[in-house]
Amino acid sequence: MAKNTSKSKTLPIYIINGPNLNLLGAREPSIYGHTTLGEIEKLCAARAKSHGLSAVFLQSNKEGELVEFLQEARTAASGVIINAAGYTHTSVAILDALQMLPLPVIEVHLSNPARREDFRHLSYVAKAATGTIAGLGVNSYLLAIDAVAAVLAGPKGTRK
Ligand code: DQA
Repeated sequence: MAKNTSKSKTLPIYIINGPNLNLLGAREPSIYGHTTLGEIEKLCAARAKSHGLSAVFLQSNKEGELVEFLQEARTAASGVIINAAGYTHTSVAILDALQMLPLPVIEVHLSNPARREDFRHLSYVAKAATGTIAGLGVNSYLLAIDAVAAVLAGPKGTRK
């Protein structure tokens, strides 16, 4: 019997970053650390590769663009990692887009919003997320990749 040589490639993980995260490194380093978003992107690519996965790394300061990234992820991604930054606490539009995703969704934050101001305690993203990883700096992103890999490797039908 002929050997099937076609490789079935898993779709990339979309790692989506919201407003002001483009200024990481310079932005309130006592809260968010000194690592730039570009450096986080490289670390994420390596971590995804260690799981045999790839990552598409995206950032926007605009709510509508973040919604468009999520709409694209519906058919182009195997999972979504999202740090919606300030929109975490305000955006019904991002929640609606997340609720359409038949994919693992991990919410990440560099800081731990639960330890900060009251207005950061509400997360619209959390209402549609498989899970949340917060407060671990850059490691929040890397552990989120591990989490997506674990969900994808898990029993069929595991989504949220
Ligand atoms: C953040 C936490 C949010 O409350 C804040 O608005 C951000 C960054 C974090 O990664 O810790 O912009 O999402």
